[in-house]
Amino acid sequence: MSADGYVTTPQGWPALTADPAFVSGKSHGIQEFLEDCEAALMGRTTFEPALTNDRWPWPNLDVFMLGSQRPIGTPDHVVTDSDPTRLLEKLRGGNKGGDVHLVGGPRTIETFRGLGALDKLELVVLPLLFGEGMRLTASFDPGAELTFESERSLPGGSVEIVYTCQGHRDQLPIRPLSQGVNPPR
Ligand SMILES: NC(=O)c1ccc[n+]([C@@H]2O[C@H](COP(=O)([O-])OP(=O)(O)OC[C@H]3O[C@@H](n4cnc5c(N)ncnc54)[C@H](OP(=O)(O)O)[C@@H]3O)[C@@H](O)[C@H]2O)c1
Repeated sequence: MSADGYVTTPQGWPALTADPAFVSGKSHGIQEFLEDCEAALMGRTTFEPALTNDRWPWPNLDVFMLGSQRPIGTPDHVVTDSDPTRLLEKLRGGNKGGDVHLVGGPRTIETFRGLGALDKLELVVLPLLFGEGMRLTASFDPGAELTFESERSLPGGSVEIVYTCQGHRDQLPIRPLSQGVNPPR
């Protein structure tokens, strides 16, 4: 995501693609991340652009897509379902012990978090400001119970922040006195 909280560019592409350091399938720690993964899971909006990509983004992974229809041109090996619980059962049914990369977007991440199926949230914060785009927290609950686990710097100025999806978030501080004690009526 951009440093001002957008997971897409103003034109709707994943934030990473705007980073001069972006190399598809290689940059931003994706290779190390995918080493322990056996599957990728995503929503239809995130999945569809892959059908016209020069490079299939998940060459070594089983692919699962949440959506009410199977987009034209979807490869036979991709498993799709309109029901998140059913898709989760299919995914777990075939799992051989590896991790699942929940690619996004925010609606699908929030859907599976709500089902208790999200173990970790890993954010790559880019050294860029967009000013517009899709905010992670427009769909993903900002009050989600996350516990900070680790961070690391990535080449090109990005920072990876890893949270486990357990714990709780304290109340945010109240309004500063200088801005008035009472909420506006
Ligand atoms: N920064 C990043 O790393 C990153 C990663 C991934 C995606 N993105 C960006 O995120 C944007 C898309 O995000 P998004 O959140 O709008 O879309 P999304 O999660 O990719 O896909 C949304 C679609 O998934 C299905 N879906 C999601 N939740 C559902 C539920 N509870 N029940 C049934 N179906 C459900 C629906 O498909 P149907 O409409 O077919 O019913 C829905 O329209 C794109 O612009 C993409 O580029 C960014």
